[in-house]
Parts: sequence; structure tokens; C-alpha cells
Amino acid sequence: MDPLNLIKILPKAELHLHIEGSFEPELMFEIAQRNKVSTRFKSVEEVREAYNFHNLQSFLDIYYEGANVLIHERDFYDLTMAYLKKCQEDNVVHTEIFFDPQTHTSRGISFETVFKGIQGALLDAKKEWGMSSHLIMCFLRHLSEEDAFKTLKESLPYKEHIIAVGLDSSELGHPPTKFERVFKAARDEGFLTVAHAGEEGPVSYIKEALDLLKVSRIDHGVRSLEDDELVERLAKEKMPLTVCPLSNIKLCVFKKLADHNLKKLLDRGVLVTINSDDPAYFGGYMNENFSQTAIALNLSQAEIKLLAINSFTASFLPGATKESWVEKINQLSL
Ligand code: HPA
Ligand code: ZN
Repeated sequence: MDPLNLIKILPKAELHLHIEGSFEPELMFEIAQRNKVSTRFKSVEEVREAYNFHNLQSFLDIYYEGANVLIHERDFYDLTMAYLKKCQEDNVVHTEIFFDPQTHTSRGISFETVFKGIQGALLDAKKEWGMSSHLIMCFLRHLSEEDAFKTLKESLPYKEHIIAVGLDSSELGHPPTKFERVFKAARDEGFLTVAHAGEEGPVSYIKEALDLLKVSRIDHGVRSLEDDELVERLAKEKMPLTVCPLSNIKLCVFKKLADHNLKKLLDRGVLVTINSDDPAYFGGYMNENFSQTAIALNLSQAEIKLLAINSFTASFLPGATKESWVEKINQLSL
């Protein structure tokens, strides 16, 4: 089967997606207008032209700026529903969504507003087309440990609906050690943990995330290939990496997709998954990430299928549900 058709028909889970990063300029303009918030951009085209990044920080500056127009529960609902519809188009049947409460609470928007808006859309997608989802609350690592503790406390009334905590934003200079205590407190409250590590930051950050934050997955982790022992450990422990190929190109982690190390990681037995990270900013949702990567790295049918299987294996779905998706994939006549 043609790889692009295969990618379309494979059910997939997305495990690395920042909801604020799915904010398309068209919706941003619509919400800015209805909230009477002004932005420095005059048109959708002007916004898109500004999406030329040279590293993570140059992206984050504009990503936080875009999120400023989100004020009401309905705004968070619309943002989330727009992403979930993209999932439906791409045959993403399960998603584990990051949200950044501090981006909003620091502007005076309540945790409750953010949570209820997102959760409302997740419940409607479940009801309307049976899509499943989990929420992962990220701490912004450029902010203090104290601020993270405050956010953890604010999340407790909703903890039954948030499966894990994560760590995102500016990686360099903000190692996992900074958040060791707040992650311990989160685990004691029953949250699973994940962390961005080894996107721009060194291999030591990946090891700290494993050993100190006790993560169940590493987000990105592409720099792990610099350390043979670490690669062996990741493979042996079946520690998933949520890799985001188009993001890595846009943020200049790799020069071009053909240079990406995803296939090398797969060949070394690492449980790699493909994800879109911030699709509105990086030029593509799930199938676009799969397709462009499959072409650039000349992935085989078996490798594409394995990536779809890995997306369920690495998810936080119950064991029986994972198995049933894997079985469905194995039964597809290709
Ligand atoms: N890395 C770190 N922080 C982020 C990212 C990312 O890729 N996307 C949104 N916040
Ligand atoms: Zn990310």
C-alpha cells in the first residue's frame, strides 16, 4: 500500500500536543475580535509570516503572545474542539493533551475557566464520535518551583481528570532537578509524570528526568542518541520518546527532515512515537508529521505500522484498551 494511504487508515494516538500550540491564526483572530483584545498583527497572513523560528525560545515568545487572547471558558472550548476535529480527520482516536495553566493564571484567568473549557470539548468529542483523551498539566520550567507548587495546589480539585504532570517551556538552564520536589508531591497525589528533555537540553537532563522525576515518558529526547548507554537503557526499559519531527525542523534541532534521527532510534529498539507538538506553528498535524517523516526517512510499511502501535503502547490507556487497538492495527489488511 502507498505509505500515505497507510498512514491515513492507521488508527493513532497522539501523546505530545500542547493545546495552546494548536491555536490557528484564523481562530486566534476570531477570538481576539470577540474578546475585543488587540494584537500586534493586522492579518492572518502577517501572523503566519512571523512563524520563522531559529530556536525554542524564539517560538515560545510568540506562542505565549498568541495565548493572551484566550479569556473565557468558551475560548478554551473552541480551541480544544478545533484540535479534536483535526484528530478526527487524521484518524487520531486517542490523545493526551498538554495544557499550561500558568500561561493563563498569570494573566488573571482562573484554573477553573481553563480546565472547564478544555474538558467540555473532550467530553463532547467522546460523546459525539467516541474519541478518548487524557489531560496532562505542564509546569512552565522558566518559572519558579514555588509557582509550580502553587499550580499543583490549584489543580487538586480536578486531579481525577488530569492523568499526569509534565514539564515544558525553555529547557536550557532549567534542569529537571529544579522540579524534583514538586514532581514528588505530584506523584504522592497520584499523578503520573512526563517531562520535556533532550530537545535542546543535554543528555544529563534526560537522565535527571528518569531518575529524579520518575517519568513514564520522555518528551522529545532526541539528543539521547549522543549517549550509547542511555539509548540502551531507554530500549531495555521500554521508555517511550514522544518525538515531534516537524517541530524539530522548525526549531532547528535538525537542519532537515532527512537528517532526523527517528529511524536510528527505532533501529536501536527505542519505543519511539510520532507527534505534532504545536501543529498550528510547526506546519502540520499528526498525518503530516507521519507522512513527511516516512518520505524523508524512507520508512517501510512495517516501520510505519510499528509507529502507530507504539503510540498506543506508550499511552496511558488501560492495558486492555491498548491491546485492542494494537490488535485492530495488526488485523488491517495492508
Ligand atoms: N518544548 C518546550 N516547551 C514547549 C514546547 C516544546 O516543544 N511546545 C510548547 N511548549
Ligand atoms: Zn512539546
